[in-house]
Amino acid sequence: MNILGIETSCDETAASVVKDGRLILSNTVSSSLRLHRKYGGVVPEIATRFHTEVIDLVIKSALKEAGLDFKNIDALSVTKGPGLVGALLVGISCAKAIAFGLKLPLVAVDHLKAHLYSAIINERRIKFPFVGLVISGGHTRLILVYDFDRTRLLGQTQDDAVGEAFDKVAKLLKLGYPGGPIIDRLAKRGDPERIEFPRTRLSDSLDFSFSGIKTAVLYYVRRFPNLNSRDVWDIAAGFQEAVIDMLIENTFRALEKYRIRILVIGGGVSLNSRLRQRLNDESLYRGIKIYLPEDELCMDNAVMVAGLGYQLFRMGKIANLDITAEPNS
Ligand code: KG4
Ligand code: ZN
Repeated sequence: MNILGIETSCDETAASVVKDGRLILSNTVSSSLRLHRKYGGVVPEIATRFHTEVIDLVIKSALKEAGLDFKNIDALSVTKGPGLVGALLVGISCAKAIAFGLKLPLVAVDHLKAHLYSAIINERRIKFPFVGLVISGGHTRLILVYDFDRTRLLGQTQDDAVGEAFDKVAKLLKLGYPGGPIIDRLAKRGDPERIEFPRTRLSDSLDFSFSGIKTAVLYYVRRFPNLNSRDVWDIAAGFQEAVIDMLIENTFRALEKYRIRILVIGGGVSLNSRLRQRLNDESLYRGIKIYLPEDELCMDNAVMVAGLGYQLFRMGKIANLDITAEPNS
């Protein structure tokens, strides 16, 4: 069964055809990232306009790359939220129009669950329940996943998302946007122990908070305005290590609390090389089976939308054509 997935929740316009939930026939992504660079973050209006301009080309390109035509598509799957409302509506309207015009079933998927699906797309028999950690530019959530549809929120950020913290700290250090990959690279040259940044722990809760560490970096930069390259590398390394400590602490507390032995990670920040290493080491040490997405599926893409869409289709979760965006779901 071929599913055409469409993703427009943030700054990537993406379409993909996935066969039977696993075989990736195409993965087309067009990003408006460069248009947001000078603002240091995603500008919703610019992202939305960009989606409207390129969505038809992106879909055509995904079909072409798959060597298929619309007549070979069996169902549509689209991201319903969370995300930017205008951006989501472009993908949803487009998917609805195609589904209506071609009389195809439509499935609506949650963007964060789709990120987790990126990590398990090759796994034939994933065992539920598992603990999922979604770490992206817009979200930081720990969830208990009962099946492809049902989840329970265990913890989330009370302020900045983890990717957002990376982006803001990179901006403070005048490193450019998006900050995550730059900090990842510079931290490799730095000493993570030279500058000790605070680790926020919210007592008895699996929630996260990254505003404290962001402010600590701000104060440090104000106090020592003449930073040389080594200072910047050490700040990047110290900041990154503190963020990773906070992510690891809550994630493994959640696994212990709910006696779960499977961990699935998703979202753009899962590209972080030091985080991957620490998560792999910690999982090995504690006997946890961990799933991380392949590099090309970490950031926003439509493979994960088509893949999860197939699993929901099999569960009979067909959407009505009156669905709308769920930006805060
Ligand atoms: O999942 P994603 O593409 O978009 C959202 O759904 O939000 O994630 C984008 C985020 C950005 O904040 C970016 O800085 C971060 O992922 N990111 C990284 C790395 N690569 C991307 N953060 C840390 N280390 C990286 N290597
Ligand atoms: Zn995302």
